[in-house]
Amino acid sequence: MVIVAPSILSADFSKLGEEIKAVEKAGAKWLHIDVMDGHFVPNITIGPPVVKSIRKITELFFDVHLMIENPTKYAKNFADAGADGITFHIESCKNPLTVIEEIKKTGCKVGVSLNPSTPIERIKNLLSEVDLVLVMSVNPGFSGQKFIPDVVPKIEWLRQQIDEHEYNVLIEVDGGINRETGRVVRQAGADVLVAGSFVFKGKDYNQAVNDLIR
Ligand code: DX5
Ligand code: ZN
Repeated sequence: MVIVAPSILSADFSKLGEEIKAVEKAGAKWLHIDVMDGHFVPNITIGPPVVKSIRKITELFFDVHLMIENPTKYAKNFADAGADGITFHIESCKNPLTVIEEIKKTGCKVGVSLNPSTPIERIKNLLSEVDLVLVMSVNPGFSGQKFIPDVVPKIEWLRQQIDEHEYNVLIEVDGGINRETGRVVRQAGADVLVAGSFVFKGKDYNQAVNDLIR
């Protein structure tokens, strides 16, 4: 069964605690936290104080997606605030192995992410080093964008590599996930589905989470 990770970027921040409790009740196991710095992407979002604050109200796995330059500089701050997993972008660093090592030191699970236009070969040698690969199915920066189907072969390739070499790596897909695209990426081999607008902009969180699991 896939893991659903609602992205709080699409939640109503004036009642963030209630929003998180609602998706937890709907059956989500992870919470996706989009961190943007206004440099790596044009938008600015959430920092460690928010993570620390919501850590008090839920046991959900905190899946922190760093869309920032210099991920090593901030990994420990997010870990201390309560992150369970930290994912950095391959495009944001020169020495991915150093970044992986630094995140591992914090005790968090490590993920590497790649933009839709970045070839999968860029992360091939990291599959034995990470816990998760986050395949972006939109260009990072904003929620509510349309799914880019060209990324599906990347998911299939990863599934094949991970199964063949028995790597202990989850495949997560992020961007434009809804009932239909969710099915497509599940069939391609995804383990974790991130969904922002599909969950939080709809009326029925239960239905939305269940639509993604099935
Ligand atoms: C995009 C973020 C996504 C986004 C997903 O930069 O990484 O996690 O919040 O939102 P939807 O599901 O609306 O595309
Ligand atoms: Zn994300």
